[in-house]
Amino acid sequence: MKKISMLINAQDRISHISPEIYGHFSEHLGRCIYNGIYVGEDSSIPNTDGIRNDIIEAFRNIKLPVLRWPGGCFADEYHWKDGIGEKSGRKKMINTNWGGVSEDNSFGTHEFMRFCELVGCEPYIAGNLGSGTITEISEWVEYMTLEGGSPMSELRKKNGREKPWRLKYLGIGNENWGCGGNMRSDYYIDQYRQYQSFCKNYSGNELYKIACGPNSGDYNWTEAIMKNLNKDQTKGISLHYYTVPTGDWNKKGGAREFDTDLYYSTIAKTLYIDTLITRHTEIMNRYDPDNNIGLIVDEWGCWYDVEEGTNPGFLYQQNTMRDAIVAACNLNIFNRHSKRVTMANLAQAVNVLQSLILTEGEKMVKTPTYHVFDLFKEHQNGELVYCFSTNEYAGDKEKVPILSSSASVKDGVMTLTLANCSLEDSAEISCDIRGFECSEASARILTAEVHTLNDFDAPDRVVPAEYPVKLENGVLTAELPACSVMSITIK
Ligand code: AHR
Repeated sequence: MKKISMLINAQDRISHISPEIYGHFSEHLGRCIYNGIYVGEDSSIPNTDGIRNDIIEAFRNIKLPVLRWPGGCFADEYHWKDGIGEKSGRKKMINTNWGGVSEDNSFGTHEFMRFCELVGCEPYIAGNLGSGTITEISEWVEYMTLEGGSPMSELRKKNGREKPWRLKYLGIGNENWGCGGNMRSDYYIDQYRQYQSFCKNYSGNELYKIACGPNSGDYNWTEAIMKNLNKDQTKGISLHYYTVPTGDWNKKGGAREFDTDLYYSTIAKTLYIDTLITRHTEIMNRYDPDNNIGLIVDEWGCWYDVEEGTNPGFLYQQNTMRDAIVAACNLNIFNRHSKRVTMANLAQAVNVLQSLILTEGEKMVKTPTYHVFDLFKEHQNGELVYCFSTNEYAGDKEKVPILSSSASVKDGVMTLTLANCSLEDSAEISCDIRGFECSEASARILTAEVHTLNDFDAPDRVVPAEYPVKLENGVLTAELPACSVMSITIK
């Protein structure tokens, strides 16, 4: 048992935690959309307008705040007009990035917006800068948001949607340093400035425009973008960082089989996002000291070798208790950086990479990662408060701090989330809570042997459970088992 002391000062309010930090990402990739979220109106699987009811319900439960679509790399090959109108007349294309499969465009703008309405989340559209045109992106915004009287708004009405949708988040390109056009930063930023100029605010809708930011530790990209960005018209720049356990993209390691060393290496690589955010933030602070531009971590999560026997282009992977620890560490880090990080989107929501949900025919499984989002959901719209802890270290080849934590206050209730990354030792937490009147604490925990996963024949192996904690004279004590994630409600 390792002893850890913590101190929370609730009077020290650091920043607002945007709900969008708990956001997600859906791409036309593998079985994320088709045979995942979208099964079609004629499916025997219970659905609303072709969208699985069990997925809608699961996303509503975690208060999913924002969903990014249609990519990813797919976004820079997507031509939105192919995905509107009568389904039988929609143009087919080849999804060149993801398995070379045929895409029939039966899930397009109307279907995505309907999905967001059913879930109750904000849509985040990733526009095509890589292979699209300025006219195309500008007409897409007009189609979605302009009330009436223009060619695009009339076309939308003809296609069955009288009222415009509200669209806040608009990305201008995706990974334009890579799959989105292999551009140099100077070239991209000029393109960005031009494209975004023609994405207008119509009918009271106000766009939150997001420029393509860096890949992982590419600080030069951030510097170039921040220096040349038209800051009066831009609200965010993106950051992409994936946890690859081995650090080798050609042999990343599997989702299910890993030894203790690879586990700790996974955690160390996850925690590195803290350094990345800190350094990108330092650059952003120089160009934007008033914090008007958000850092949008719109792709993050574990990326493993695909499950044996599945299409390598579909990026399907299982999800264990290791992923739960990774998710908890990331979310605590995002909370702690919430002054600058205003949105984050886990890749990806269903059947791809570190998914919340896996499906097989009519069966559906909530992964350990899903349950972490459930445990952390009360941080959404909370105020981050000062939370300090001593720490202990675990791991042999790579040493990692065992405790990850963050605390917030909302409506007089404090939420404290913890992860014990150690596979060997439980942690005895003693937390001094100051500046906050409280007399009750209750907790929910997610814990299991690190390889444990939820599968179609056993969907509830890893699920949250009530857990005893003690609160006496403003001191909270809790025993955090090895390999666990806990959410404590204090009031
Ligand atoms: O999430 C899978 C892919 O990873 C996305 O399409 C791309 O943006 C990133 O490289």
